Amino acid sequence: MPRSQTHPLHRHETLRFPKDFLWGAATSSHQVEGWNEHNDWWEWEKRVGSIARGERSGRSADHYHHYEHDFDLAKQLNLGAYRLSLEWSRLEPHKNGWDRHEVEHYQNVLCALKARGFKVMLTLMHFTLPQWVAEEGGWENLATVKYFERYAEFAVKNFGPYVDFWVTVNEPLIAVTLGYLRGRWPPGKKSLLGAFQTFLNLTRAHKRVYHLIHQLLDKEKRSAVMKIMGVGGKRGAVCVVRPPRQVQVGVAHNIVSVSAYRKHSLVDSLFARLSDFLWNHLFISMTRRTHDFLGVNYYFHQRLKREKGKFFRSLVDVYREETRETSDIGWEIFPQGISEALLDLSAEYPKIPIYITENGIATVNDDKRSRFIVSYIKEIYHAIQAGVDVRGYFYWSLIDNFEWEKGFSPRFGLIEIDYKTLRRRVRPAARVYAAIAKENGLPHELLRFIGHGVAPTEFL
Ligand code: NOJ
Repeated sequence: MPRSQTHPLHRHETLRFPKDFLWGAATSSHQVEGWNEHNDWWEWEKRVGSIARGERSGRSADHYHHYEHDFDLAKQLNLGAYRLSLEWSRLEPHKNGWDRHEVEHYQNVLCALKARGFKVMLTLMHFTLPQWVAEEGGWENLATVKYFERYAEFAVKNFGPYVDFWVTVNEPLIAVTLGYLRGRWPPGKKSLLGAFQTFLNLTRAHKRVYHLIHQLLDKEKRSAVMKIMGVGGKRGAVCVVRPPRQVQVGVAHNIVSVSAYRKHSLVDSLFARLSDFLWNHLFISMTRRTHDFLGVNYYFHQRLKREKGKFFRSLVDVYREETRETSDIGWEIFPQGISEALLDLSAEYPKIPIYITENGIATVNDDKRSRFIVSYIKEIYHAIQAGVDVRGYFYWSLIDNFEWEKGFSPRFGLIEIDYKTLRRRVRPAARVYAAIAKENGLPHELLRFIGHGVAPTEFL
């Protein structure tokens, strides 16, 4: 084959990503800000046994006061996009009681991102609810959809021009499963009916807020909204805010790559199909035509087999190959899963662009993190080559954070947090990721290291 026709993988070239591909990182309010005292998680953490080692989110990484420094570090890592969430309970700590001071805080945060040239992806609901909403029944209560709409409208009116991508809800199915079926997250229920109502209300919330954001911000209508907004900036910080040409709204969906444990077993295959439908397609198909992009949070690969008498467990349980490498919290490292999931999604929804809104690993071993990043990004490259319209990748997470019921020990960050001193340290894997972002692709050198089992950090 003439050299020009060989695949870049066989040549010593960088595997280039499409022009304008976004390289980013993500965080969520409750996991990094500290002192989110008015939400349901804060209450939940007080319960004995709810969080590993009895930890509480407390001050967390104190990102609330360190955001400028954190964004500087993200910039130094050549990142061009950032995903964060608003903490509803800060903005509306009491019913109808909006906190102007917190509005100003988030305007400063968003301005700080814009001043550094980041594309901003803003999540409205990343698992936490104001305690007053939880006390009125949380997502099981239809009224919560109304409250959520009101909050979304408030957010659009106060933060609209800073935002390039809106994520209505983060991982709706995880919220349903852990909060209402397994009882491991607030409100700690094990109720099929509760799970069903929650699921329905989350689909309603997404659909209504999708239309609301478009109504308020689509070009022809938005001048009225924009006029009433002052574009803020702390201590005279300049942020040039040019509202995005097109408003883009979606969800960040937890996508699982599912296969049958016993390839030739019809029962296992049926279970895998059903599980795939429930995890990956049900929410999107019930909210059809309200996704300008598909946000993919990718962490899991599952091989399913049916166990007699355990219908539900069989649908969701993971059967791991013992020899495979895992993260520090036992999650299997299976890079091919991400390209399989992407191909599958794009076959189903060929016209909707995809952003990887989260992908990352909890580990204290940075060689492992580096290999993880390179090998998953390589799989995304393959999916793009196969025609999947992937437009961005957000590593989870920019900084170490509070990993819900697992507390602080899982270390997902590109940047390490010393929780005693709050000192930030850029991890070696972050530099590997920074090289990828700078090149807008995977330099061949990095791939060679992976192939030979050498730590990619030696590439630096
Ligand atoms: C997805 C969730 O959105 C995020 O909050 C969490 O920390 C990561 N998964 C890792 O579990």
